[in-house]
Amino acid sequence: MLQHFFNPSSVAVVGASQNPHKIGYEILENIIQYNFRGAVYPINPKADEILGQKAYPDLMSVPGKIDLAVIVVPPALVMDVVEQCGEKGVDSVIIITAGFKETGPKGSHLEEALAVRARALGIHVVGPNCLGIIDTTSSLNASFAEGMPLPGHIGFFSQSGAMCIAILDWAFGQNIGFSRFVSLGNKMDISEVEIMLSMERDANTRVILGYSESIDNGPHFMEAARRVCQTKPIIIIKSGTTSAGAKAASSHTGALAGSDNAYTAAFKQSGVIRAKSMQDLFGYAMAFATQPLPEGPSVAIVTNSGGPGILAADACDRSSLHLTPIRKETADRLREFLPPTAAVYNPVDIIGDATEERYEKTLEVILQDDMLHSVLILLAPTAAVDAEAVAYSIVKLAKNADKPIITVFMGERGVRRARRILQDHSIPSYEYPEDAISAMDAMASYRRWREKPPRQYRHFKGDTGKVRQIFSSIIKQHRHDLIESEAREVLRAYQFRLPENRIAKTTKEAVLAASEIGYPVVMKIASPDVLHKSDMGGVRVGIENDAQVEEAFFDMTSSIRLRQPDARILGVMVQEMIPQGKEVILGITRDMQFGPMIMFGLGGIYVEVLKDVSFRIAPLSVESADAMIREIRSFPLLRGVRGEAPADIEAIRDALLRLSQIAIDFPEIIEADINPLLVCPEGQGAVAVDARFTIHE
Ligand code: ACO
Repeated sequence: MLQHFFNPSSVAVVGASQNPHKIGYEILENIIQYNFRGAVYPINPKADEILGQKAYPDLMSVPGKIDLAVIVVPPALVMDVVEQCGEKGVDSVIIITAGFKETGPKGSHLEEALAVRARALGIHVVGPNCLGIIDTTSSLNASFAEGMPLPGHIGFFSQSGAMCIAILDWAFGQNIGFSRFVSLGNKMDISEVEIMLSMERDANTRVILGYSESIDNGPHFMEAARRVCQTKPIIIIKSGTTSAGAKAASSHTGALAGSDNAYTAAFKQSGVIRAKSMQDLFGYAMAFATQPLPEGPSVAIVTNSGGPGILAADACDRSSLHLTPIRKETADRLREFLPPTAAVYNPVDIIGDATEERYEKTLEVILQDDMLHSVLILLAPTAAVDAEAVAYSIVKLAKNADKPIITVFMGERGVRRARRILQDHSIPSYEYPEDAISAMDAMASYRRWREKPPRQYRHFKGDTGKVRQIFSSIIKQHRHDLIESEAREVLRAYQFRLPENRIAKTTKEAVLAASEIGYPVVMKIASPDVLHKSDMGGVRVGIENDAQVEEAFFDMTSSIRLRQPDARILGVMVQEMIPQGKEVILGITRDMQFGPMIMFGLGGIYVEVLKDVSFRIAPLSVESADAMIREIRSFPLLRGVRGEAPADIEAIRDALLRLSQIAIDFPEIIEADINPLLVCPEGQGAVAVDARFTIHE
């Protein structure tokens, strides 16, 4: 579909100018000077010839077919040019012009009108407000960026033109090549989704890199990314995360969610590698574009100095990589030529007087050990070593290596030339061990993600009719928050285990309910208006007898009347007191871009103070639910510490999957908490003690 953007037979530049200071001149110059092989048509009503090419007053005057039009005229003229494109049968258009959505409501309207018209004419658009497109395979530089990147295997897209320029400049400095380069601008039509899919099909792209500020259609993005990541890694740096949405939320889940968590979850679930900084983005790009993926997590570190080796080992420890001990056969082979003071463990320390020869022999042996999946070579520029000779040895051995080789030549003056040699021969070279380990970790994690068996999804058949009935009655009453009894009905419709309970309107009814349920009981105020019941004195636990029931009933209703006089009080809920267990919280929140998002965390103070929670976008796969549970820092508490019985993890997983089903079945739910879900010891299930739902029409 995007063939004409990347490999057109003919390109027209509408707004091409003879004035070398104008963008219309620069774009035409870029197309011509970097040897685009197709036909080039400058379009300008005032010129006969520009940069040696015959110019045409408008698109209709061009004799041949036009595959791609680059529009560089002021905003007010763009619509007219798009109409001309429609008339001429141009199906692919890059709009460089700024002055649309990014400028405010007026620009937004203009852009919307343009989008509608382009769609009606069957025209695909990159931009507006963009830098253009570069494809090194077809030698097309339809942008006003300075210079043409080297051909290579990185496909790059960016929402920001400035980031495009910065990454291009970095690439020139590092001798890194690109397959394709796309400045998306305002993404009026073509977004990262179409670009990722086109790069998936492009034989010259091995790794896809992106800079993103916002993703408009989350589910569409996830579906495409998940598919592309099966064959090619996608690395994205995402900026512009905000907690503005979180501030307005009323539930725990809503308050903790924030759009950044949605992006993190969506990226994890679709295999996208998230770069946390530009340094990571560049670092990962270098490794993924030039090295094979490691077969496993085991890393060998070779170093001529202890300190950097320890730093690398520490970084390894914080990652998913393993610093596997060197097996005996390999250690014996190393000992044959290494001095007795060398360490043949891992890191392999070939010590400070190591020469280039010692490096080469060591690397040769390490590369032959199948138990070691990738190699990190550290070098401090001692007087004994010729760093450039080591670089050439690495280049030589890497030619036949089937595992990633990553290097860190520490320092600057003494290693500058050696680093250049490595870079020129596609060996990733980092300044610091931590950056190298981070890139190696990303590669190993990506490989693991790719090799995972297909995710399993379970469908839970809830009583949707019942829930729909509850929701419509609430909407009719112009309410948004469900009272506890309604929330319980929703959970019951999805077979959650709930504590026994009764609503009591009077003290007498409360005493009767308690004796039917059996002591001890819990009492909670039943009111649609009291959201944080405990804080308002609306919850009492461990009630042992009739007298305590009477007292609690009185205290609770008076306290609410005093503290929240306008709250409607429907009575008091008398509940079975659940046996000992671990309190966890489960929740639903709805993200603007990605839709329903599920949260999990330990309950009580852990969720509020430590924010120790995990998120995934619904629908959850069984694997995602499992990963959410294991991801929180306090997971060991659920597994049981100091001889404690482990909590029923399977019951948590089941509850998460059921909640995910509810979120999918009912898009009107905007927030929900099951807080707490009381998790009994292994094999004994979990009870949803309290729940809140907020819905919207
Ligand atoms: N068809 C063809 N050519 C036309 C037409 C038409 N209908 N109407 C006018 N032209 C010609 C003009 O005569 C002019 O040529 P000339 O120099 O020979 O006179 C040429 O088109 C350009 O028109 P100008 O009015 O001179 O517009 P100018 O070049 O000053 O600006 C531009 C146009 C560059 C599109 C400007 O409106 C703009 O949007 N600039 C910002 C671009 C930008 O920043 N994009 C985002 C980049 S990403 C980043 O942030 C790095």
